[in-house]
Amino acid sequence: MKLVFATHNPNKFREVQILMPKHVKLLSLNDIGCLEDIPETSDTIEGNAILKAEHVKSHYGYDCFADDTGLEVSALNGAPGVYSARYANTSNNAQANMEKLLNEMLDIEDRSARFKTAIALTLEGHQNLFLGICEGTITLEPRGKEGFGYDPIFQPLGFVETFAEMSLTQKSEIGHRGKAMRELLEYLSLNNS
Ligand code: IMP
Repeated sequence: MKLVFATHNPNKFREVQILMPKHVKLLSLNDIGCLEDIPETSDTIEGNAILKAEHVKSHYGYDCFADDTGLEVSALNGAPGVYSARYANTSNNAQANMEKLLNEMLDIEDRSARFKTAIALTLEGHQNLFLGICEGTITLEPRGKEGFGYDPIFQPLGFVETFAEMSLTQKSEIGHRGKAMRELLEYLSLNNS
Protein backbone atom coordinates (compact mmCIF):
# COMPACT_ATOMS: atom_id res chain seq x y z
CA MET A 1 0.00 0.00 0.00
CA LYS A 2 1.26 3.47 -0.93
CA LEU A 3 0.58 6.58 1.16
CA VAL A 4 1.84 10.11 0.60
CA PHE A 5 3.02 12.05 3.65
CA ALA A 6 2.82 15.69 2.55
CA THR A 7 6.10 17.05 3.84
CA HIS A 8 9.42 18.34 2.54
CA ASN A 9 10.94 18.03 6.00
CA PRO A 10 13.25 14.96 6.11
CA ASN A 11 13.24 14.97 9.95
CA LYS A 12 9.45 14.76 10.08
CA PHE A 13 9.48 12.11 7.38
CA ARG A 14 11.88 9.92 9.40
CA GLU A 15 9.81 10.38 12.57
CA VAL A 16 6.69 9.19 10.81
CA GLN A 17 8.36 6.47 8.75
CA ILE A 18 9.52 4.52 11.81
CA LEU A 19 5.89 4.24 12.95
CA MET A 20 4.64 2.78 9.67
CA PRO A 21 4.05 -0.95 9.27
CA LYS A 22 6.51 -2.54 6.86
CA HIS A 23 4.00 -3.15 4.09
CA VAL A 24 3.17 0.57 3.75
CA LYS A 25 5.33 2.42 1.26
CA LEU A 26 5.47 5.97 2.47
CA LEU A 27 6.01 8.57 -0.26
CA SER A 28 7.23 12.11 0.35
CA LEU A 29 6.32 15.22 -1.66
CA ASN A 30 9.62 14.91 -3.54
CA ASP A 31 8.74 11.31 -4.45
CA ILE A 32 5.56 12.48 -6.23
CA GLY A 33 7.25 15.47 -7.90
CA CYS A 34 5.67 18.11 -5.67
CA LEU A 35 8.57 20.49 -5.21
CA GLU A 36 6.66 23.71 -4.44
CA ASP A 37 5.98 24.99 -0.92
CA ILE A 38 2.31 24.38 -0.22
CA PRO A 39 0.69 27.62 1.07
CA GLU A 40 -0.16 27.46 4.78
CA THR A 41 -2.58 30.38 4.92
CA SER A 42 -5.02 29.19 7.57
CA ASP A 43 -5.03 30.76 11.03
CA THR A 44 -5.33 27.37 12.71
CA ILE A 45 -3.03 24.35 12.89
CA GLU A 46 -5.90 22.08 11.87
CA GLY A 47 -6.73 24.32 8.89
CA ASN A 48 -3.16 24.22 7.58
CA ALA A 49 -3.01 20.43 7.79
CA ILE A 50 -6.24 20.23 5.76
CA LEU A 51 -4.94 22.75 3.19
CA LYS A 52 -1.81 20.65 2.62
CA ALA A 53 -3.67 17.36 2.26
CA GLU A 54 -6.19 18.93 -0.13
CA HIS A 55 -3.41 20.52 -2.21
CA VAL A 56 -1.82 17.12 -2.82
CA LYS A 57 -5.16 15.51 -3.65
CA SER A 58 -6.30 18.24 -6.04
CA HIS A 59 -2.95 18.86 -7.80
CA TYR A 60 -1.43 15.37 -7.81
CA GLY A 61 -4.40 13.03 -7.36
CA TYR A 62 -2.89 11.08 -4.47
CA ASP A 63 -4.64 10.13 -1.27
CA CYS A 64 -2.41 11.44 1.45
CA PHE A 65 -1.99 12.75 4.94
CA ALA A 66 -0.44 16.04 6.04
CA ASP A 67 0.57 17.38 9.41
CA ASP A 68 0.88 20.82 10.89
CA THR A 69 2.44 21.50 14.26
CA GLY A 70 2.58 24.46 16.59
CA LEU A 71 4.21 25.20 19.92
CA GLU A 72 1.75 26.85 22.33
CA VAL A 73 3.24 28.68 25.32
CA SER A 74 0.76 29.28 28.17
CA ALA A 75 2.26 32.57 29.37
CA LEU A 76 2.23 33.93 25.80
CA ASN A 77 -1.47 33.14 25.33
CA GLY A 78 -0.71 30.23 23.04
CA ALA A 79 1.93 31.95 20.88
CA PRO A 80 3.79 31.16 18.67
CA GLY A 81 1.10 28.53 17.87
CA VAL A 82 0.11 28.43 14.23
CA TYR A 83 2.87 30.97 13.50
CA SER A 84 5.67 28.79 14.96
CA ALA A 85 7.59 28.52 11.67
CA ARG A 86 7.69 32.30 11.10
CA TYR A 87 7.91 33.42 14.73
CA ALA A 88 11.16 35.38 14.22
CA ASN A 89 9.86 36.82 10.94
CA THR A 90 12.18 34.64 8.93
CA SER A 91 11.23 31.65 6.87
CA ASN A 92 11.54 28.84 9.38
CA ASN A 93 14.94 29.59 10.92
CA ALA A 94 15.01 27.33 14.00
CA GLN A 95 17.87 29.19 15.68
CA ALA A 96 16.20 32.59 15.29
CA ASN A 97 12.82 31.23 16.41
CA MET A 98 14.30 29.69 19.57
CA GLU A 99 16.25 32.85 20.39
CA LYS A 100 13.15 35.00 20.02
CA LEU A 101 11.10 32.68 22.25
CA LEU A 102 13.78 32.53 24.96
CA ASN A 103 14.02 36.35 24.89
CA GLU A 104 10.25 36.76 25.16
CA MET A 105 10.34 34.45 28.20
CA LEU A 106 13.30 36.00 30.03
CA ASP A 107 11.25 37.21 33.00
CA ILE A 108 8.49 34.64 32.83
CA GLU A 109 8.19 32.02 35.57
CA ASP A 110 5.39 29.91 34.13
CA ARG A 111 7.27 28.07 31.39
CA SER A 112 4.56 25.53 30.58
CA ALA A 113 3.94 24.83 26.91
CA ARG A 114 2.61 22.16 24.59
CA PHE A 115 3.28 20.91 21.10
CA LYS A 116 0.13 20.28 19.10
CA THR A 117 0.07 18.29 15.88
CA ALA A 118 -2.92 18.00 13.60
CA ILE A 119 -2.87 15.34 10.88
CA ALA A 120 -5.38 15.63 8.05
CA LEU A 121 -6.07 12.50 6.03
CA THR A 122 -7.68 12.51 2.59
CA LEU A 123 -8.59 8.97 1.66
CA GLU A 124 -11.05 7.72 -0.94
CA GLY A 125 -13.09 10.93 -0.86
CA HIS A 126 -13.22 11.12 2.92
CA GLN A 127 -11.40 13.54 5.17
CA ASN A 128 -10.38 12.91 8.78
CA LEU A 129 -8.44 14.82 11.38
CA PHE A 130 -6.24 13.40 14.15
CA LEU A 131 -4.68 15.36 17.02
CA GLY A 132 -1.65 14.76 19.22
CA ILE A 133 -0.63 16.94 22.16
CA CYS A 134 2.55 16.78 24.24
CA GLU A 135 2.75 18.87 27.41
CA GLY A 136 6.07 20.19 28.69
CA THR A 137 8.12 23.24 29.59
CA ILE A 138 10.40 25.69 27.80
CA THR A 139 13.95 25.35 29.11
CA LEU A 140 16.16 28.32 30.01
CA GLU A 141 18.61 27.48 27.23
CA PRO A 142 18.90 25.06 24.29
CA ARG A 143 20.13 21.51 25.07
CA GLY A 144 20.84 18.63 22.72
CA LYS A 145 21.63 18.04 19.08
CA GLU A 146 18.90 15.64 17.89
CA GLY A 147 15.59 16.52 16.28
CA PHE A 148 14.74 19.85 14.70
CA GLY A 149 12.87 23.12 15.18
CA TYR A 150 12.17 23.95 18.82
CA ASP A 151 13.31 20.51 20.10
CA PRO A 152 16.39 21.83 22.01
CA ILE A 153 14.22 24.08 24.24
CA PHE A 154 11.26 21.77 24.84
CA GLN A 155 11.35 19.42 27.83
CA PRO A 156 8.37 17.05 27.82
CA LEU A 157 6.52 16.57 31.10
CA GLY A 158 7.99 13.74 33.22
CA PHE A 159 11.42 13.81 31.56
CA VAL A 160 14.70 15.54 32.37
CA GLU A 161 15.83 15.59 28.73
CA THR A 162 14.72 17.96 26.00
CA PHE A 163 13.41 16.42 22.77
CA ALA A 164 16.81 17.20 21.25
CA GLU A 165 18.50 15.00 23.89
CA MET A 166 16.29 12.01 23.03
CA SER A 167 16.48 9.40 20.31
CA LEU A 168 14.03 9.59 17.45
CA THR A 169 12.28 6.49 18.78
CA GLN A 170 11.82 7.95 22.25
CA LYS A 171 10.55 11.26 20.88
CA SER A 172 8.08 9.38 18.70
CA GLU A 173 6.85 7.30 21.64
CA ILE A 174 5.94 10.28 23.81
CA GLY A 175 5.72 13.15 21.32
CA HIS A 176 2.83 15.03 19.72
CA ARG A 177 3.41 13.73 16.20
CA GLY A 178 3.72 10.13 17.39
CA LYS A 179 0.43 10.44 19.27
CA ALA A 180 -1.42 11.87 16.27
CA MET A 181 0.19 9.21 14.05
CA ARG A 182 -1.00 6.37 16.26
CA GLU A 183 -4.55 7.77 15.99
CA LEU A 184 -4.16 7.79 12.23
CA LEU A 185 -2.78 4.24 12.15
CA GLU A 186 -5.59 3.02 14.36
CA TYR A 187 -8.09 4.59 11.97
CA LEU A 188 -6.42 2.88 9.04
CA SER A 189 -6.33 -0.34 11.09
CA LEU A 190 -2.72 -0.69 10.10
CA ASN A 191 -1.08 -0.79 13.49
CA ASN A 192 -1.42 -4.53 14.07
CA SER A 193 -0.72 -5.69 10.57
P1 IMP B 1 5.26 22.81 10.49
O1 IMP B 1 4.32 21.88 11.10
O2 IMP B 1 6.24 22.10 9.64
O3 IMP B 1 4.58 23.94 9.77
O4 IMP B 1 6.12 23.41 11.68
C1 IMP B 1 5.85 24.63 12.31
C2 IMP B 1 7.05 25.03 13.14
O5 IMP B 1 7.14 24.17 14.28
C3 IMP B 1 8.40 24.94 12.44
O6 IMP B 1 9.20 25.99 12.92
C4 IMP B 1 8.96 23.62 12.88
O7 IMP B 1 10.38 23.61 12.89
C5 IMP B 1 8.39 23.50 14.27
N1 IMP B 1 8.15 22.10 14.60
C6 IMP B 1 7.27 21.26 14.01
N2 IMP B 1 7.34 20.05 14.56
C7 IMP B 1 8.27 20.12 15.54
C8 IMP B 1 8.80 19.17 16.45
O8 IMP B 1 8.42 17.99 16.50
N3 IMP B 1 9.75 19.61 17.28
C9 IMP B 1 10.21 20.90 17.28
N4 IMP B 1 9.76 21.82 16.43
C10 IMP B 1 8.79 21.43 15.57
